[in-house]
Amino acid sequence: MAARIIDGKAIAQSLRETLAAEVEALSGRGIVPGLAVVLVGEDAASQVYVRNKAAQTKAVGMRSIEHRLPADTSEADLLRLVATLNADDAVDGILVQLPLPAQIDAQRVIEAIDPEKDVDGFHPVNAGRLATGLPGLVPCTPQGSMRLVESVRTDLAGLEAVVVGRSNIVGKPMAQLLLQRSCTVTIAHSRTRDLAEVCRRADILVAAVGRPELVRGDWIREGAIVIDVGINRVPAPEAGEGKTRLVGDVAFEEARARAGAITPVPGGVGPMTIACLLANTLQAAKARRGN
Ligand code: GUN
Repeated sequence: MAARIIDGKAIAQSLRETLAAEVEALSGRGIVPGLAVVLVGEDAASQVYVRNKAAQTKAVGMRSIEHRLPADTSEADLLRLVATLNADDAVDGILVQLPLPAQIDAQRVIEAIDPEKDVDGFHPVNAGRLATGLPGLVPCTPQGSMRLVESVRTDLAGLEAVVVGRSNIVGKPMAQLLLQRSCTVTIAHSRTRDLAEVCRRADILVAAVGRPELVRGDWIREGAIVIDVGINRVPAPEAGEGKTRLVGDVAFEEARARAGAITPVPGGVGPMTIACLLANTLQAAKARRGN
């Protein structure tokens, strides 16, 4: 039986509606959550993300503050801007768009952000909070992936979960979230021996490696929940010369024949990331005001 397709677009939309209602209630008390997004340079993909973030922030009734800096901005200047945003009471969330130009040490910038305003959840304080089960800001992509898993099944205790990818942004926090839900968690990566065999044990398989269609249909356990975090642009000569298309880290058509539920690319995890960024901004705004 073909898998159920997990509709990330619809689930993200429903989350944004919930957030908008809460933002409206807060506005009635004179509180408007503010999200500051900092973009350094002209990276084309980053410009698209930043535009989408600003539009969705405003659409749920929050304040969007944008800072665009030239590609040759120094690390010291960026750190000064972060300090200003940390001190600005109208700013509840700060996101510095990655990647940053080579002259800037991204880790130093991440660590300069006030952990209470770190809506990316990348600060070591928030990573540590997640790892120790304390409340904090949880990175958006794994948070969104978890919400998609939970749209299929809420009791995850005892399930085998395999996360392919060990990045600080997705793989490691995803593993923490699954562990919190009492899954038996394996983190696989580029050095894992017999990756296919490891994936075959997964009741929940999360692919986050950025390798187009790496995960094949026969790597999928019958009935598994498959979350594809990859967004890879590949040539699509069948659509015409020079055309491209987006594919995930999972060979979708093959996997869908065996999985119980699977996220598509596009329209799966992607739309959840910004919706969870807005959820984090609201959470930060409430926490900073003591509720
Ligand atoms: N670049 C691509 N995705 C992200 C993200 O989630 N956060 C930040 N800060 N930069 C990104």
